[in-house]
Amino acid sequence: MDEVDAERMEGLHVPACERCLELIESRSRIVNGTGPEDADVLFVGEGPGAQEDAQGEPFVGRSGTVLDDALRSVGLDRETVRITNCVRCRPPENRDPKKGELANCRGYLETEIARLEPDVIVTLGKVPSEHLLGRSVAVTKEAGAVEDVRIDGETYRVLLSVHPAATLYDRSQESTFEAALEKAADLAGVDGGGSGQTRLDGF
Ligand code: URA
Repeated sequence: MDEVDAERMEGLHVPACERCLELIESRSRIVNGTGPEDADVLFVGEGPGAQEDAQGEPFVGRSGTVLDDALRSVGLDRETVRITNCVRCRPPENRDPKKGELANCRGYLETEIARLEPDVIVTLGKVPSEHLLGRSVAVTKEAGAVEDVRIDGETYRVLLSVHPAATLYDRSQESTFEAALEKAADLAGVDGGGSGQTRLDGF
């Protein structure tokens, strides 16, 4: 864990940060993770979009609706999982976070992971998958794969998933996304989902 970042955080909350000059300009606020601090499942997205920036909560736009529906379909919900992002400030025009921005925010994410000690970390899309695995990832091919990853001296189980927004552009990704979430629920020992039927009709 980065001690400096851990000290800058109040609990799991980053109250202020001015490390990324471009993101200071593009954000309206820092978007911290949400959900219980002892959640078994941690979802990691890329970074806040417009809605998240406006509301101060991760995954509250269209991707969030897809995520919420899929969570419910596997017996999970937003109140029982933790949801966070690789970077906590909205990049301009929703571009991908730059390497330096990911690096600047890495300590906050590592602190969150270390405090939570989740049963499984689910990476939502290419950016968080590559960020945590430290290698290039073909996420549509590798979705559903589970890898043990060393993060700050500890080993965590990381489950790769496509980003929920992928299902909005390509309906064939719905089943891939739901299968990954079913696996997340299984790994966390949650019973109650897994019908195998898609619940994302309407997108
Ligand atoms: N996409 C992300 O990766 N994160 C969010 O919080 C919202 C959309």
